[in-house]
This record gives sequence, C-alpha cells and structure tokens, in this order.
Amino acid sequence: MTNTSTILICLFVSFGGFLFGYDTGLISGILEMEAFKADFGPGNGAPVGASTKSLIVSILSVGTFFGALAAGQLADKLGRRWAIICSSGVFLIGVALQTAGHNLGLMLPGRIIAGFGVGLLSDLIPLYQAEAAPKHLRGTLVSTYQLAITIGILAAFGVNQGLQNVDGRASYRVPIAIQFFFGAFLAGGMFLLPDSPRNLLRLNRRADALSALCRLRSRPAHDVEIINEMAEMEQHLRFEQELGEASYMDCFRGKGYRRTMIAIWIQAFQQLTGVNFIFYYGTTFFRQAGIEQAYLTSTITGVVNVLSTFPALYMIDRMGRRKVLLMGTTIMLIGQLVVGAVGTAYPATLDPNTGAVLTSNSKAGICTIVFTCVFIYGFASTWGPGAWVVTTEIFPLRLRSKGVALATASNWFWNFVLGFTTPYIVDPDEGDLGPKIAFLWAALILAGGVFVYFLVPETKGLALEDVDELFDSGIPPWKSSAFIVSDKHNPHHDAMEFAGKQNANIENQKSEATIGA
Ligand code: BGC
Repeated sequence: MTNTSTILICLFVSFGGFLFGYDTGLISGILEMEAFKADFGPGNGAPVGASTKSLIVSILSVGTFFGALAAGQLADKLGRRWAIICSSGVFLIGVALQTAGHNLGLMLPGRIIAGFGVGLLSDLIPLYQAEAAPKHLRGTLVSTYQLAITIGILAAFGVNQGLQNVDGRASYRVPIAIQFFFGAFLAGGMFLLPDSPRNLLRLNRRADALSALCRLRSRPAHDVEIINEMAEMEQHLRFEQELGEASYMDCFRGKGYRRTMIAIWIQAFQQLTGVNFIFYYGTTFFRQAGIEQAYLTSTITGVVNVLSTFPALYMIDRMGRRKVLLMGTTIMLIGQLVVGAVGTAYPATLDPNTGAVLTSNSKAGICTIVFTCVFIYGFASTWGPGAWVVTTEIFPLRLRSKGVALATASNWFWNFVLGFTTPYIVDPDEGDLGPKIAFLWAALILAGGVFVYFLVPETKGLALEDVDELFDSGIPPWKSSAFIVSDKHNPHHDAMEFAGKQNANIENQKSEATIGA
C-alpha cells in the first residue's frame, strides 16, 4: 500500500535530527568569531583558551548523554508524541539562556539544558519513526533522521560562514537564536501528529491506537491492512505484557543482554569511525595536513555528507543492514588508510607560532581531501543511518524505549570522549599524532566491521514483532539473511481472527441500536 501520510509524518519528525546536526555544526564556527573571542577569550582578540573552549564544546555532550538516558522513561510515561513536545520545550529554554548569555554563567547552563533537550530528541525521534513506519519502509524512514542530521550540520556551517564577519555579538547570537524557530516548529508540528500506535496499545488505549494507525496510514479502520497490522501489534503486545514492565536492568538480563550489547556497541563503533573528528576539528586537521583552504575543505565534507546519505535511503531496505554496514566498513577503511599514508609520506611543515602552512605538497593535499571525502561517503551512505536503524529495530517493545535510550547515550558518551581527547592526541604540542590518527580510525573501523560480521543479524523486511523470532532462532548472524519467519506468527491468521471479532462487535452494536430504537 502507499503510505504517503506515514512518509510525510516521518519526514516531519526527522526535523529533530536537524536540531541535533545544527547543534553539532554550530559551535566550531562560533568559537572563531571575533565577538565571541572578545566575550569569552582572555582579551585583545586572542583565541578562547583551551580549557574554556573544551568546556563550552563538551558540556553539551554531558547534557545530551543524560537527556538520552532520561528519554526512555519520558517516552513510556508521556507517550512518544508528548515526550517530543516536552523535549523541544527543554531545548528552547537552553537556547534562550545561550542567546541571552555573553558570559559563561549563562552560556554553560544554556548548553547543558539545550544538550539535554537534543539528547532526549536524538532518542525519541528514531524511536517514533521506527514505531510509526511500515516494515518495508522502516530502514528508509529512520534513515531520513540521519539525512536531517547531515543537513543540520551543513546549515550550521552555512549560517556561521555567512555571519562570521558581522560586527558585534549578533555574529554569534543569531546562529544560536535561530534554533528557537527550529524547536518551536518541531513542537508545534507534533501537536498535530498522531502518537505511536504501538505505544498507545501498550498504554491500553486501543481506540486511540487504532485511530492513530488509521491517520498514519490514511486508511479507514475496516481496511484489511489496518486490521492486519493492529492484530499483529496486539498479539505481540500480549506476549510482552505477560512478561511484565521492564527496567533498565532488564536490558542487561536474559535475552535483552545480547540486543542491548549490539545496540550500545554499534553506536560506539559508529563514533569510533572518527567521523566527528572531521566535523569538530576538520579545519585544524586540514591545516595540519598542509591544506590552506581548510575552512572550505570542511564545508566540502559537509556537502559530501549530505549528498552521500541519499544512496543510504535507497540501499538500506534493499541490500539489507549487514551488507550496507560491511560495505561502509570497506570504503571507510580505504579512505582512512590513504589519508594516513599520504599524510605520513608527505608531512607539511607549519609555523610553530601561528600554525600557518610553510611547506606542503599540493598533490598530497588534494589526495587527502579526496580520500577524506571517500571516507565521509563511506560513513554517510552506510554506518551513519545504519547504526540508528539497527538500534531502533532490534529490541522487543517491552525493552525498546530503554534499550534505544542506552544505545543513544553510548553514542553521546563516545562523542564526548573523542571530542574531548582527540585534540590532545593530534596537536603538535601534545601527542603530535597529526594525520597518523587516520591509522587509529582505520583500526577501529575494522573492529566495527568484524563486530557486525559476527554479531549483528539481518533485520531487513521483518516486522518489529518478528525480530524476536530471529533472535530466538539461534541462527548465526552471518547466515541470518536467509532467515524466514515461521508460520505460527503469520499475521494473516490473527488478522482473520481479529476481523471476525470486529464484525461480531459491529453486528452487536447494530442490534443494540435496533433494540434502542
Ligand atoms: C552521528 C553524529 C555525526 C553525524 C554525522 C550521526 O549519525 O551520530 O555523531 O555527527 O552522524 O553526519
């Protein structure tokens, strides 16, 4: 069936990813603005000191980490839709504080609170999408979340670039304040959208669940597809309710353990590819590699990141999760190995005081740019969206919100650890690893590929309800593409039974109406 309204709804909520991306791309440019340096630096136009800089950058991830952990509770208590509205509200408070603040006293709490909101959203959006999407489009629709992240990063690069030469505090306040519209737009739109039918059923609101599903699919309640899908969800929920309400600890017990580990580690390995090293520190890295147009090069990586996400939308539901992730591992590996090799063979010399490029090999510079783009292509078309898709679809409903929360927190945790430590590893006056850091990323990318090959099963095309059977089947992940759902879960059977009950209800209502008349 065509699912135009589901697609539009999932596209709309993926706007939460835009907030996430914009926040990621925003700070690096702002730190370099003159007015920002004057307010937050030591004075006389000198750059913001290292400790203040790292505090302002990394404190956001502290907020996002806790936001991601809190999202599970919020999503279960308030429902997915209200949780998204409240998270946007939290985000807006953080944005207001940052906009008002030209000192650390307001800026730091503002970044923590906005980060908390972004952390909540980074968890709630893919969760809502996975629960709202029909199974054959689930991968593609969850991937639109990643597309929105990449567009957000690029938009922030663009806004910063456009405003960097504006005089006064407006140069950094406007890019921050714009987020106010983004947050309000998301919250406002959510008022109009239905909640996740799966979650409404979980809260025993069957009638609301049915109407939410009808709105999502733009179909009437008596449509056989709707009846099928409701029956499938209800039957599965009954199994889960027999098992009782889940806690975070349940994610680490029994059958939950394997899935939680997969979700936590796929998010960790996504970060360990080194992608944010390019987005947070790309400008510095490119200069160290002898590339003078470092700012432009960063923007190019932002554009490649957006464009390369489109192939993922196409491939993820056709090739399947495993093939896409393993293909991405190979492409990223090639990209990083060449960047590392070229940077090691043709090191640039820099002025130790200003950091300006003194000598460099222009062919080596071009090669570095091209293969960094190969790496970004490998990431954005595979692991970028793929990690989010796998995370949202491997949990049973009972554990899903908490499991997704733990995995998203793992993403932010590694985001923080890498964002905080890489300057110390790379910088000439610190660890001085320079371009050789690409070899470290290559080793970690390889580890991520081995992890996927041996531990992550194929979930393409399965109803979220059937993923349980896949895990219970004991089929080794590397053979799981051949897995076929058994007949005992055949939704058609339950749908017929359910349709029979529906008809009986309608008949009862009709006869009651006749008696009443
Ligand atoms: C990652 C972010 C990253 C972005 C890059 C996302 O999937 O989780 O950390 O900045 O991709 O496009």
